[in-house]
Amino acid sequence: MNFKNVGIVGLGSYVPERIVTNFDLEKMVDTSDEWIKSRTGIEERRFAAEDQATSDLAVEASKKALEKAGLTAEDIDFIILATGTPDYLIQSTACIVQEKLGAKNAAAFDLNAACSGFVYALTMGTALIKSNMYKRVLVIGTEVLSRVVDMQDRNTCVLFGDGAAAAVLAEVEPGYGIISQYLGAEGEDQETLRVPAGGTRKPITPEVLEERSNFLKMKGPEVFKFAVKALPKATISAMESGNVSVEDISMVFPHQANLRIIEAASKRIGIPVEKFYMNLNKFGNTSSASIGLALGEALDKGLVKKGDVIALTGFGAGLTYGSMIIKWAY
Ligand SMILES: CC(C)(COP(=O)(O)OP(=O)(O)OC[C@H]1O[C@@H](n2cnc3c(N)ncnc32)[C@H](O)[C@@H]1OP(=O)(O)O)[C@@H](O)C(=O)NCCC(=O)NCCS
Repeated sequence: MNFKNVGIVGLGSYVPERIVTNFDLEKMVDTSDEWIKSRTGIEERRFAAEDQATSDLAVEASKKALEKAGLTAEDIDFIILATGTPDYLIQSTACIVQEKLGAKNAAAFDLNAACSGFVYALTMGTALIKSNMYKRVLVIGTEVLSRVVDMQDRNTCVLFGDGAAAAVLAEVEPGYGIISQYLGAEGEDQETLRVPAGGTRKPITPEVLEERSNFLKMKGPEVFKFAVKALPKATISAMESGNVSVEDISMVFPHQANLRIIEAASKRIGIPVEKFYMNLNKFGNTSSASIGLALGEALDKGLVKKGDVIALTGFGAGLTYGSMIIKWAY
């Protein structure tokens, strides 16, 4: 069987208008711009407007991705939407986006791999096209984390932001497109990073609201330790399976969680940190949207060109991690 070459043929991103700076957060919790910048590299992030939900951000990013690809919503035959912050617990956000876009020929479902979601979803979409089951897959990473972050908890509320990114996957000319990928999960770390209540294990009760366990809880240093191992493992494994060397990689698009995590990963992988594209200073950690947001910005600046070999690499709750190597196709 001849597998197709699959690549990203259009990419779009969207962030809400409202900018929340570190100085704004100084007024809400016991923190400082100096602490946040020195420990994370983050200076500001975007928060969705009150009437914006996760699907609304996804739709804006998707429209741009379709335009870049020169396609209409009806050309899409599958939508995979990665999020940890869906509009609703039941009814996938992908179906809401399908309706809002008018992508009436598309099957649609959500995927939750937290901050690794974009790489997981790209991998699933690639497999669907390679196997000849579908032709054009819209992959979305979208989050409104500002609704699940506890704005009274300085350990977490300074880290996250809202945003969306979307990529259209389709067949590309031979020699281009997705070269390889690596996905992993370590489910044994059960309490490192999660929203403890609001699901079926612990439904919302007055006690839950009192203890604020309907908001994100995180053991920061444990996530840090995991991340500095997981990012290199995923990236190096993907490079090895694609027979790609560190010299071949023109740019890395890491999950935008923390400047210090990225610096440590760069050393372990052996790719200079200058090749790691970062915009976390402006958007913070937007979970499944972050890698696409970074890639979209780099494309708009003309920093990624046809034939460049790039790596996408992420880690997140679950715990999950994943990486994808792509020879850029346009
Ligand atoms: C969260 C993180 C930035 C904390 O940095 P750190 O250098 O490990 O800091 P620590 O957790 O050791 O905390 C040091 C001190 O700063 C305090 N602190 C935590 N958040 C603070 C804030 N926003 N402002 C000021 N002080 C803060 C802590 O309470 C602690 O104080 P203590 O020593 O008196 O107890 C870091 O652990 C991290 O980035 N982890 C990974 C998080 C992540 O990426 N999550 C998303 C995964 S997808």
